[in-house]
Amino acid sequence: MDGSGGGQGKGGDRGIGSRRATRLIHGRSQSSMWEYSHHAIPPITASTTFRLSSVSRGQKGFLAFGSPDLGHGESPTYIYDRLDEPTTSMLEEVLADGEGGDRAVAFACGMSAISSTLMACCSVGQSIVAHPVMYGCTYSLLTKQLPRFGITTVFADMRDPEAIRLAITADTRVVYFETPANPTLECIDIQNVATVVGAINAARPVEQRVRIVVDNTFQTLWGQRPIESGADIVVASLTKNVGGFGVDMGGVAVVPRELCGPLKGIRKDFGGVLPPASAWDFQVYGLSTLPVRLARQVQTSRAVAEFLASHPAVSRVSYPGLPDYEFREIAEKQMRTPEGEFCPGHMIYFELAGDPEISANRRERFINYLAEHAYSIMLAVSLGMTKTLIEAPGLMTHSSFDPETQMKLGIHPGGIRLAIGLEDARDVISDLSEALENSI
Ligand SMILES: Cc1ncc(COP(=O)(O)O)c(C=O)c1O
Repeated sequence: MDGSGGGQGKGGDRGIGSRRATRLIHGRSQSSMWEYSHHAIPPITASTTFRLSSVSRGQKGFLAFGSPDLGHGESPTYIYDRLDEPTTSMLEEVLADGEGGDRAVAFACGMSAISSTLMACCSVGQSIVAHPVMYGCTYSLLTKQLPRFGITTVFADMRDPEAIRLAITADTRVVYFETPANPTLECIDIQNVATVVGAINAARPVEQRVRIVVDNTFQTLWGQRPIESGADIVVASLTKNVGGFGVDMGGVAVVPRELCGPLKGIRKDFGGVLPPASAWDFQVYGLSTLPVRLARQVQTSRAVAEFLASHPAVSRVSYPGLPDYEFREIAEKQMRTPEGEFCPGHMIYFELAGDPEISANRRERFINYLAEHAYSIMLAVSLGMTKTLIEAPGLMTHSSFDPETQMKLGIHPGGIRLAIGLEDARDVISDLSEALENSI
């Protein structure tokens, strides 16, 4: 506990005893890293560098850089924004608390959080085991970029414990997956993966252990906390539902204490720094409204998914809130709010009826019709905004997978990804209904 919170109730004590939704709003107004106990809303720090009173103070700042105890008993000496600064530190503390992890390190976007985390865990000659269905740019990072630096990836179906066991070798340092996976929304049982990896780690020295890294972008810390289910690290894009309004890019890695320094070192040297103004938006606008926004999105998503599932032109709907969702049992176990409520999320994947070629043609006509005529649905990539977005993953977000691999992974030529926003469900359904009637 740092400080008394001078004149502002329990703000100085990290809100101990209060519930998570409340802590997402209030955070901690005073610590050894910042002192905003007299502000209702914290200020945005707007200086790229910091005045130092002596050379030895500057030296001290560089020496202390990356310590996991800064803000947790140790006071920082701020030097330069690329190292550390108070607005981002405030956000990092709320994110670590929300995900239930030791430390959070914020980044310029989700991809810089993912790439930095993998670089912190793996060196040349070491490898990653990943579930094959994932966001297209992560796939491109694993298959095109990291191999150039001697870090390779093998793919294994994380729903099959034996496949994970067989894929892990002496060089493996990371097991990586998204759940639910982008775009098909298949669920991976985090506890099951943790059991397999835990047994392998039990026979390894600490420095060779395999870390489980889960991308929690789709669910956010309000809809799922992978660390509580046995993951070591959570990575996420803040650009999506944490930001919530589609105006800032950001990313985060929530890591065990010992990875805080190495990860901040990578951020310092590779430079994927989150601007303080964006950190402020994520905290003041994004996190504080996340539980309310997600509850509304879930309500609308259920209604939209039910509508799509009942439509004859739609052959398949994947939404964790539907009773016949393939991974319903896993979803009900791990996709929960901190209050224990089932949170099936706001992403829907569906396919139009017909053989692959017919389905692909129908998809193009259907989405183009929406792009031209719909009021409440926009053709755009991204997700987690106030506005509902639709896209064709095979041609857009997942175009880094070749068509044959897409087919193998269930990314169907007629597959459509819908990211539900905050509109009235009746308007979204009405736009979908009109497009299905008129374009197919
Ligand atoms: C699951 C997932 N992870 C990571 C990212 C990358 O996030 P960003 O665009 O903030 O780099 C995305 C982007 O769509 C995503 O869908």
